Amino acid sequence: MTLSSEERNFAEQAIAAHSGGPGALLSILERVQEHHPHKYLSAEILQYIAEKTQIPLAQIYSVATFYALFNLEPQGEHTICICRGTACHTRGSRNLLERLRLELNLPEETEDGANKVSQTTPDRQYSLRTVACFGQCALAPVVEVDHAIFGHMNEQALHRELEQLEKEREL
Ligand code: FES
Repeated sequence: MTLSSEERNFAEQAIAAHSGGPGALLSILERVQEHHPHKYLSAEILQYIAEKTQIPLAQIYSVATFYALFNLEPQGEHTICICRGTACHTRGSRNLLERLRLELNLPEETEDGANKVSQTTPDRQYSLRTVACFGQCALAPVVEVDHAIFGHMNEQALHRELEQLEKEREL
């Protein structure tokens, strides 16, 4: 896959806007990812950023893979993120995860318990992710749907949220 001139131009603008500042690489990657319609950083764009910033590609990859906010795969139109922290886990977040997998027809991933989940439906409508903690443990179990936080979530409420997203899609 080759980069469009628009993608290259945008990356150059992001580099010019942040170069030299503290956390420059993070800001550049964040901006470029946000600009992409599928909210991810392709191998090609990372390579391009490496060339333009003179930052070694390996260093860029280590940043992009370290921070949970960066995606190296195309993301869905909607993102549903389930907390798997201790408080949420003990209040049933695993059932919420399984319920969503069933509803979205996503396969069970082989997990070792520590790995975060990141799955996208083949039609790229939904991405299902997990986080270690939202910092809202008193509201456990916590689910985030397109950046909106929902506390005390249960399977029925989650199903309703999904139905709502489906309705919006049909409009
Ligand atoms: S453990 Fe889920 S918000 Fe903290």
